[in-house]
Amino acid sequence: MANSDFSGQTALVTGGTSGIGREVALQLAAGGAHVVVTGRNTERGAATVDAIRHSGGAADFIAVDLADADAVAHLAAEAVRVGGGHVDVLVNNAGVFPFGPTAEVDTETFDAVMAVNVRAPFTLVAALAPGMAERGHGAIVNLSTMVASFGMSGMSLYGSSKAALQLLTKAWAAEFGPSGVRVNAVSPGPTRTEGTDVMGDSLDALAATTPAGRVSTVTEVAAGIVFLASAAASNVHGVILPVDGGRLAV
Ligand SMILES: NC(=O)c1ccc[n+]([C@@H]2O[C@H](COP(=O)([O-])OP(=O)(O)OC[C@H]3O[C@@H](n4cnc5c(N)ncnc54)[C@H](OP(=O)(O)O)[C@@H]3O)[C@@H](O)[C@H]2O)c1
Repeated sequence: MANSDFSGQTALVTGGTSGIGREVALQLAAGGAHVVVTGRNTERGAATVDAIRHSGGAADFIAVDLADADAVAHLAAEAVRVGGGHVDVLVNNAGVFPFGPTAEVDTETFDAVMAVNVRAPFTLVAALAPGMAERGHGAIVNLSTMVASFGMSGMSLYGSSKAALQLLTKAWAAEFGPSGVRVNAVSPGPTRTEGTDVMGDSLDALAATTPAGRVSTVTEVAAGIVFLASAAASNVHGVILPVDGGRLAV
């Protein structure tokens, strides 16, 4: 089996309707995975599924609002059903990133960010990792951010939510690794996506602080995620892989 061969595997990709998640879905499907794509936007979900099917791959879309705890539990069960009784790869990619001063974050925004960025991955791992463990294999990749590793003004809420996910990555590696389930994370730097489009030049300014001096492409970030999900990373557990143009190194 080639290292990037996902034949026979079902992969659940949250936030597969846009940006990094869509590219991950495309790459996993190209590797032979049956990809279950999720997001709220059914039109964009259908577009991802169509793109995969047109290339000869297998995909399904499940619409879900990850801020809704009951809906997330339902998603896990649906993904197993649609995936033929198993989910072998879970990519916790969906995320929200409202930036701004701490004093301007209201309770509703705080709860919404934590619900999507922390609680939803937690619920999905709780629901799906035990099945992976029972089968003796599985890979989970979480999406963090470079601003989970250093303080940046305006990013207290977002950065702290992803810092929680980084610790969860390590805790889950410890908990599920002995059963053959690998849990890792990718920590992207500034990456041009639908979600960061609104940042315009400020995204480039942020990227200019990295050794590479430029934004990442979704292809580059997805490649890191797919690597960690693949057999090429068969003894890699609990790492936070930066795909950030070297920002965390300097
Ligand atoms: N782009 C960057 O520069 C960058 C840098 C560091 C880390 N990241 C992380 O990488 C991940 C992807 O970022 P991106 O730039 O690709 O984002 P994006 O283009 O904004 O896409 C976000 C995805 O998350 C989904 N999503 C958001 N809220 C949701 C909710 N309540 N329920 C269900 N799905 C929801 C969206 O689906 P719907 O719209 O269909 O609901 C969409 O597919 C995020 O976790 C982000 O924090 C990105």
